[in-house]
Amino acid sequence: MNVLVTGGCGFIGSNLVKYLRAQRPSWNLVNLDKLTYAGNLENLRALERDPCHLFVRGDIGNRELVDHLLRTHRIDAIAHLAAESHVDRSILGPEAFIQTNVLGTQVLLEAARHAKLSRFLMVSTDEVYGTGLFTETTPLAPSSPYSSSKAAADLVSLAYAHTFGLDVVVTRCSNNYGPYQFPEKLIPLMVANALNDRPLPVYGDGSNVRDWLHVEDHCAALTLALEKGERGQVYNIGGNSERRNLDLVKTILSALGKPESLIKFVADRPGHDQRYAIDASKAKRTLGWAPTHVFEAALAATVQWYVQHRPWWERIVSGEYQRYFDTQYAARLS
Ligand code: NAD
Ligand code: TYD
Repeated sequence: MNVLVTGGCGFIGSNLVKYLRAQRPSWNLVNLDKLTYAGNLENLRALERDPCHLFVRGDIGNRELVDHLLRTHRIDAIAHLAAESHVDRSILGPEAFIQTNVLGTQVLLEAARHAKLSRFLMVSTDEVYGTGLFTETTPLAPSSPYSSSKAAADLVSLAYAHTFGLDVVVTRCSNNYGPYQFPEKLIPLMVANALNDRPLPVYGDGSNVRDWLHVEDHCAALTLALEKGERGQVYNIGGNSERRNLDLVKTILSALGKPESLIKFVADRPGHDQRYAIDASKAKRTLGWAPTHVFEAALAATVQWYVQHRPWWERIVSGEYQRYFDTQYAARLS
């Protein structure tokens, strides 16, 4: 199978590319990524000379490029992960979210339809449901520019299944954690600040609840959705590990031997969703998927990963990581 992975240099995308290379070694992967601030080619250093992984720097909104890749690499399926993904950034500037998440997705769908691809996996989010406990039939009620742009992309993808018969499968997952997460998201940010003895900014009173899903469990679910998902179906993917933000932050501090006095309660995020909880029984029943990571142990291992990979996130904080493409990758190609 030849698969176009979009956003393969981001947190989940780079974990997925490595997961697929290990678990589905006969698949050829083309990784289309624009390398925005969130894309980091260093995440895929291990695959630099892998003949079954081709990195292409480009925008999913470039139809000509997408058509070219689908044709020349005889792509069978798209795993679509590229997105602007950070809620706080969407509040500061929604435009890029509409551009990439909505319009970019539509370009991919249109290209997939014309190339008659056999599968289009749309990686959506539980945030499309708004706040609460969600099954796949819960009405969508997104509240941030990020989640509303994902909801638009999610629904347009389903419309391509219903209207054009495109073989679309949608997954809606909860908050991922694990290695290589950009250090502006809750867990890596808190670890980095704690290690630097800087304040840990907790929004509001810290009572918001998130369901935490280990990224490897998510990658396993995405692989099964690619292979076994049914056209036009939506699958919730959750970690069955709901935690209050404040409790999570305290657990991180305790794992690092740092004092709780580092916690700083700051102004709440505007429109902050109170709770995300996922009923993933459909994925378990129909895809045969279940999360294997136990939250406490996997969180401890994740915290240790950031401790041991300090140069990785320090290069992000300093901006150094953005030069990797020019100095290492592009130079090697020329
Ligand atoms: P991320 O921000 O870490 O990575 C996004 C990647 O997409 C980056 O490599 C970036 O360079 C690339 N990209 C952005 N715009 C692009 C464009 N126009 N063309 C090509 N590439 C572009 O995001 P992530 O956390 O890995 O999330 C991946 C997907 O999973 C997203 O679609 C996100 O909405 C979804 N999701 C993430 C979570 C989570 O907890 N991280 C939860 C639910 C759903
Ligand atoms: P985040 O990692 O941004 O994911 P999402 O908003 O997609 O759930 O945030 C997770 C939770 O942590 C969310 O309730 C907001 C909260 N949060 C903080 O309290 N402080 C922070 O500095 C950040 C980044 C998030």
